[in-house]
This record gives sequence, C-alpha cells and structure tokens, in this order.
Amino acid sequence: MGVLDNLLVGQSAPMREVKRLIELAAPSTTTILVQGETGTGKELVAQAVHNLSGRKGKLVSVNCSAIPAELLESELFGHEKGAFTGAEKTRAGRFEMASGGTLFLDEIGDMPLALQSKLLRALENRKIQRVGGGVDVDVDFRLVCATHQNIEADIEAGKFRADLFYRINVFPITMPALASRAVDIPALLAAMLKSGKSNHADQPVFTEGAHAEMMRYPWPGNVRELRNLLERACLLFPGRQIEQADVRNNLLRIKVPEPVEEQEALWAATTNLAPESETPDNISEVSEVPLPHPSHYQEWFSFFDNIDLRRHLQDVEIVLIEAALKKSDGMISAAADSLKLRRTTLIEKMKKFMIEKPAN
Ligand SMILES: Nc1ncnc2c1ncn2[C@@H]1O[C@H](COP(=O)(O)OP(=O)(O)OP(=O)(O)O)[C@@H](O)[C@H]1O
Ligand SMILES: [Mg+2]
Repeated sequence: MGVLDNLLVGQSAPMREVKRLIELAAPSTTTILVQGETGTGKELVAQAVHNLSGRKGKLVSVNCSAIPAELLESELFGHEKGAFTGAEKTRAGRFEMASGGTLFLDEIGDMPLALQSKLLRALENRKIQRVGGGVDVDVDFRLVCATHQNIEADIEAGKFRADLFYRINVFPITMPALASRAVDIPALLAAMLKSGKSNHADQPVFTEGAHAEMMRYPWPGNVRELRNLLERACLLFPGRQIEQADVRNNLLRIKVPEPVEEQEALWAATTNLAPESETPDNISEVSEVPLPHPSHYQEWFSFFDNIDLRRHLQDVEIVLIEAALKKSDGMISAAADSLKLRRTTLIEKMKKFMIEKPAN
C-alpha cells in the first residue's frame, strides 16, 4: 500500500482508476479539475496531487463559495497598502502563497464572473496584480480546481465563462459516487476506525450482514455520510457488535434502539457528549437527505444509444410508490405523506400504474 492508498482508501475499479490518473498527472504542472458529488473526496484528491507532485511549496486552499465575493479578490490576489479602507499593510494573496506549491480552488463554480476574467488572465500569463497595485507579480503555482456543480450547465446559464472552463478542464478527474463503489465500504470503515480517536475496546464491530446492508444503501452524501454514520455507531454501539437490523433501524435512520438496556446505553452515551463536541463534518446534513444525484445519468450515452425516458421515470415512480405503501403497511395517506404527494394524487397514480395496496 502506497501513500496514495492510505489517503484515498478503496481498491474498487473506479477508485483504482482515480488513483492511476492522480499518479499520472501529479508530477506535471497540468491543471486538474476534480468533479464529483458532495462528500466523494474531491478535497483529498487535491491533497494527493500535491503530495505526489514533489513541489516544495505549500498546498493553499481557497473555498470560493465560503468567502464573500467582495473579499475573494483580495484573498486571491492580495492587496497593496491603502488599496481600500482597512488595507493597512500590503498583503500577499493566495496565488503568491502557493508559489512553488499548489493552489486548490474549491467550488470554482461559485466564483463570481468578474473574478473569472482575472483568474483567466493569471492562468494565461502566470502573473497577477495585487488589488490597488499596478505591477505584475510572477507566480509559479500548480492549479487544482474542484466543483460539485455541473459547470457546463453554468456556462449555458451565463454564470461561468466558457474560455475559463477550457483553461481549467485540462485534466479532469471525476470522483465516483460511493454507491458505485460500495465494495470499498468495509475498507473505508476500517480505515476510519483506525484513524479515529476511540480506543479499540470502545469500537463497534460491523457484522457481515451490517456491511451488506450498508452496501445496498444509495449514500447520497457519499463518504462524508458514511463517516457520520460511523460516528453515530461509535456512540450508539460502543464495543458492541452491529447487526444488519441495527444498520437499517438505528444507523441509516436515526431511531433510538428499543430494548431498555440499549436505551440506557444510548442515554449514557449521549449525556456524556460535551456540548461543543468536535465533529469534523456537518452532522446536521444528515437530517436533510439529498436525493440520489441526477448527474448519475450524465455519462449514459457514452455507454448506451438510447433510454426510454418516459418508461424509466415511470419505473422509478412505481418502485417508490410500492416501497412507500409497504412502509406504511398499505395506509394510503401515510404513504402519500412520505412521498410528499396529495392523497388523491397518489390514488390516481396507483390506478394509472395498477398498483395494489399491500394487504395489511
Ligand atoms: N477515499 C476516501 N478514503 C478515505 N476518506 C475519504 C475518502 N473519500 C472521502 N473521504 C472522507 O470523506 C469526507 C469528505 O471528503 P471531501 O471533503 O474530500 O469531499 P468533497 O468531495 O470535497 O465534498 P464537498 O463537495 O461536499 O466539498 C472527508 O472526511 C474525507 O476525509
Ligand atoms: Mg470539498
């Protein structure tokens, strides 16, 4: 196992391909564009590229969506003393800080249009100008960009410059969704347990059934969601064996375990939580489950000639309606609620698709 395997866990075919691309591109100064759904490890790719690049400088990251548009320019390009109110001294921007190293522009799709032109110039000339400064400063950076958005759609909507896109999309790396590499889940869990703070005796043990259940789940929040699930598992089942049913009932949906003993264990575990317990990633995002991403279909036509769109969407509808009815034991209004449909709409759809209410 090399450095790359320790950083990017997973030996599935799509992960091996990603690692092969990283190894290929890292030593050059080629601009890399990392795309992929949320939580798939795009930031880790930037880290990996930098580590393998052999560049002596630092990895400097800028999250373009987290920095207010009016501050982003001076953050990136720096500013001269007196360039604007509050600019008390000359300050180097991230481009200069990344000199000799790697500049990682995260969420590049959120970069304001005005700055996009400035970035394009920096990329073409390898020179920048600080805000309020009239002189060119040479910068030697290697650029890695990431986005979870569909930039092509942003170009069509006039929100992203096409010429900039061609400049940054030199070597694209697409991170696979966790659902498409579910075989990596046991290794990911093991690696996360190993790097976590809990000691061995307090760690839960996932049974084969538990792994199987997790491998069936669609993971819309990808590896981040898996990490969050593991964190819950450590709280709810410290030092215990986790079965298939535990995953389904207590970990994938947050429900308190039933037996008294378990409830007490849960109570004990959660009352010990420090109020400002550090959670590395947003636990709040667990409550609002994103939908499986439509972009899963983006590459459809690279592999197939056609798709019967109407039939496919209908099949999805039927499967979800049947699943909702099963979950509600055939109670139409409860099923309608869980589908966010009106009761009458659901009845119409059931008639149309000839779906029977399951006998309860
Ligand atoms: N292959 C992997 N091996 C180990 N950990 C991973 C892997 N992929 C992702 N992770 C972990 O999952 C979490 C999310 O990864 P990361 O922040 O890189 O995702 P992202 O693609 O940048 O997501 P977003 O689009 O939401 O910013 C991190 O805690 C990261 O360490
Ligand atoms: Mg990220």
